[in-house]
Amino acid sequence: MTYTHQEAKRYTITSALPYANGPVHIGHLAGVYVPADVYARYLRSAGEEVLFIGGSDEHGVPITIKARKEGCTPQDIVDRYHTIIKDSFKEFGISFDIYSRTSCLEHHKTAADFFKKLYDEGKFVEKVSQQYYDEEAHQFLADRYITGTCPKCGNEHAYGDQCEACGTSLNATDLINPKSMLSGAKPVLKETRHWFLPLDQDEAWLRQWILEKHQKDWKSNVYGQCKSWIDAGLQPRAVTRDLDWGVKVPLADAEGKVLYVWFDAPIGYISFTKQACGSDWEKWWKSQDTQLVHFIGKDNIVFHCIIFPAMLKAEGSFILPTNVPANEFLNLEGNKISTSRNWAVWLHEYLRDFPGKQDVLRYTLCSNAPETKDNDFTWKDFQLKNNSELVSILGNFVNRTLVLTHKFYEGKVPAAHQEVWTDVERDVVKEMSTFPERIGRSIEGYRFREALSELMNLARLGNKYLTETEPWKLIKTDEARTAASLNLSLQICANLAILAAPFLPFSAEKLNHMLDFKPCSWHSAGGIDLLPEGVQLNAPELLFEKIEDSAIEVQMKRLEDIKRQNELNNWQPATVKPTVAFDDFGKIDIRVGTVLECSKVPKADKLLQFKIDDGMGTRTIVSGIAKFYPDPQALVGRQICFIANFAPRKLKGVESQGMILSAEDRDGRLVLLSPSDIVTPGCSVG
Ligand code: 2FM
Ligand code: ZN
Repeated sequence: MTYTHQEAKRYTITSALPYANGPVHIGHLAGVYVPADVYARYLRSAGEEVLFIGGSDEHGVPITIKARKEGCTPQDIVDRYHTIIKDSFKEFGISFDIYSRTSCLEHHKTAADFFKKLYDEGKFVEKVSQQYYDEEAHQFLADRYITGTCPKCGNEHAYGDQCEACGTSLNATDLINPKSMLSGAKPVLKETRHWFLPLDQDEAWLRQWILEKHQKDWKSNVYGQCKSWIDAGLQPRAVTRDLDWGVKVPLADAEGKVLYVWFDAPIGYISFTKQACGSDWEKWWKSQDTQLVHFIGKDNIVFHCIIFPAMLKAEGSFILPTNVPANEFLNLEGNKISTSRNWAVWLHEYLRDFPGKQDVLRYTLCSNAPETKDNDFTWKDFQLKNNSELVSILGNFVNRTLVLTHKFYEGKVPAAHQEVWTDVERDVVKEMSTFPERIGRSIEGYRFREALSELMNLARLGNKYLTETEPWKLIKTDEARTAASLNLSLQICANLAILAAPFLPFSAEKLNHMLDFKPCSWHSAGGIDLLPEGVQLNAPELLFEKIEDSAIEVQMKRLEDIKRQNELNNWQPATVKPTVAFDDFGKIDIRVGTVLECSKVPKADKLLQFKIDDGMGTRTIVSGIAKFYPDPQALVGRQICFIANFAPRKLKGVESQGMILSAEDRDGRLVLLSPSDIVTPGCSVG
């Protein structure tokens, strides 16, 4: 039973299918999988029938581009990442009922049948249009196979389907200066035939369904995006592509054509239901008392709120989503998470670096989820949330209660002794009874941050109660009140075990074990008779452990290294300075000299002092390259280039009579310029 959807019989919960061209990162988790998992676990605990679906999205151009780059097949790529993603989700406790993949046979068949039914019923519009073609690679350039300048924001690296800089969704023919990703060539336009979903005809019912019916219960970020799409006027969308990787278009005359990845991927939710449920699958998709809820990130809103519903409606026998609680994006240390720039915390690496600490990340991501606006993940905050909240509030309360019970009652649940209760107990009991509904309503309203903070309030209530009653002092004077205090504290622990389970499943399980408590329904929480008197508890263990600075420093260092690497990768030669006339250049007298002596300038870390044979005598030149040449002696005998008519100047008390030339590499390193053969000192360079 839920608090808000009494009429619902069952819940089909989908989570966006991650592309199998890279591992899953914290942005995916905070945006989609943690909230979806909390929701699914909560509903199961509330006694609802739930099907929680996940799987890898294994089609689409980025996968084939990656395969090309790595010299392997697209299947090799998806096999590699599907395994990493699936295993890491499992270890992280995402409780999918099925985690499948779109390259599997069942999916190909389901997606092809879906297309065929719409085709047979005349739901598509067939159109011949001009599309970009690479004449060198002999291939049409679908979606990301083409890049160019975004007509909206001027970004020179926009893709044929989208500009990632400004988020605009594009057609390849919108791009300025289009370029083929395959050969770099300028593509030509060539005729090709495709099938389009005539979304323009869906506007009226979409307007009524989303803008009127769901104005109140859909999140405002979701509603707002839908409204601007609909208000801008919907256009027919091509549902096929000229590619050889994907679900083949099931028509006799469609050689070399596949379904567009955004047509087949959401059908994956249906194919995976068939895989999970066999012949019993239809109730999850075709029954009016089923609630269909899609958990997604904000970049998926149009596909789940407009295009997929339009496909389902065109098919005719499916239900539409009840809600699409999309989240905004999570940033990392102030910068946008990016797979290509490796700016992410990858789940499989987190699990390796913080074994057994799944719940700490679940907690941090849920309490910081980008529910209404983009949010930031920082390692310092992660540490703080663990040390000051999980350890100090929740862990501390449970630990104090269990240790005291073991100390005073040999680990047996003491009697409740309600006859010695005061208003303190009565208030705690009253307040505790409100938590299941408060937390439940927040989860049902997709306000997971609020729900989690309520859970912590229950732990705070427990701490406050222990501190007020001080059983460690009472034991000397009043055994009955000591027992009452620890009994009630233990009942709070059992309540926490139930109510924390959707958010912190590993810790809830640990707590269940310590309390010798069988996991039970959400609706049994709120009461004070969960742990009967006399039950023998197991030995207390720490629910959470402090995370030391050193562990955080390792992660920060990793990010700094990535940042530096990205700067190097993005390095561009400086723009060329304004033109100088030949005569002006001729004024600079560049020559070759031979190093006679070289030493560090005392009290100047950066400076080296050279004595140079310049063909006319010796001259002293001071140069700021000491950092890059730690052994000045080794430079003796080397030939260098210098400006002979550079105005003399004093550096740290030494007169420098010229300037030594060096190149500045992209990492800031200065490298001396030397002729490639020995030349006579004093000869000119030009
Ligand atoms: O944006 C993405 O990562 C897509 N692979 C999500 C697909 S969700 C669904 F439609 F399959
Ligand atoms: Zn743009």
